[in-house]
Amino acid sequence: MYILGIESSCDETAAAVVKDGREVISNVVATQIAEHRLYGGVVPEIASRRHCENIYAVVSAALEDAKMTIDDIDAIGVTYAPGLIGALLVGVSFAKGLALTSKKPLVPVHHIAGHIASNYISHSELEPPYLCLVASGGHSHIIEVTDYTHYKVIGRTRDDAAGECFDKAARTLGFEYPGGKFIDEAAKRGNAYAYDLPHPRVAGSEYDFSFSGLKTAVINLIHNASQKGTKIERDDVAATFQRVVCEVLVKNVIKAAENGGYDTIAAAGGVSANSGLREAMESACRERGYRLFLPELKYCGDNAAMIASQGYYDFISGKRADMSLNGIATLSLEDI
Ligand code: KG4
Ligand code: ZN
Repeated sequence: MYILGIESSCDETAAAVVKDGREVISNVVATQIAEHRLYGGVVPEIASRRHCENIYAVVSAALEDAKMTIDDIDAIGVTYAPGLIGALLVGVSFAKGLALTSKKPLVPVHHIAGHIASNYISHSELEPPYLCLVASGGHSHIIEVTDYTHYKVIGRTRDDAAGECFDKAARTLGFEYPGGKFIDEAAKRGNAYAYDLPHPRVAGSEYDFSFSGLKTAVINLIHNASQKGTKIERDDVAATFQRVVCEVLVKNVIKAAENGGYDTIAAAGGVSANSGLREAMESACRERGYRLFLPELKYCGDNAAMIASQGYYDFISGKRADMSLNGIATLSLEDI
């Protein structure tokens, strides 16, 4: 069964064809990062306009690369939530038009469910139940994936997402947007124990995260040093910051696995590309004999292959959208 996936929730216009939820036949991503970088972050209105300009070419390219036409596709999966509303509406409207004219079923896909499914592409042996850490620019969640279409969110960020925290710390350190990958590179050269940064704690839920204090601590570190005229080693700050973020993420996931009796753990989302996080997850899982699944780097960030993969599982579970499908900016995975 071939699913055409369409994704436009943030700043990547993407389309892909995936066979049976696992095999990527084509995967096209048109990124807008260079333009948003000029503004230090994603400008929603610009994102919508670029999606509008690019979506036809991106979907056509995905079909062409797959050597297929829309007639060969069994269903169209589209990201309808959560995300920037103007951006989501472009993908949703395009997918509705395509489904209407081609008479193909339309399947609404939740973006976070898509990130989780990126692991099905990379690991044919992965099957629910398992625990998944989703860490991206907009989300930081610990999720019990009970089956392919059911989830329980047991931990979430109370303020900034992990990727957002990476990007804000990176900006303070003078890196371009989005700075997560530059921190990752700098951290490889730096001393991860050079500075004292706080491990943010959250009262109430043992799996929740809070990253805004850590971001402020980095800002204060830089400002205090410049006031005192002392030199800050950028690579060392990056390495220390990355170590602390990874420790916080890994600690909560491992605690959730221990308490929930999970021995299979996955990670997903843009931040799952972070080399420090991948190593920290690997060593924590190795120590405990847990199986760990990480997406290939090309499927960590936003893409439509993950949407087509999840679209397949949603499709076979019977999920369908009609011509009244709308985009939804905020929607919990538990409410789909
Ligand atoms: O999943 P994604 O592409 O978009 C959202 O759904 O939000 O995630 C983007 C986020 C950005 O904050 C970016 O800085 C971060 O993922 N990111 C990284 C790395 N690569 C991307 N953060 C840390 N280390 C990386 N190597
Ligand atoms: Zn995403």
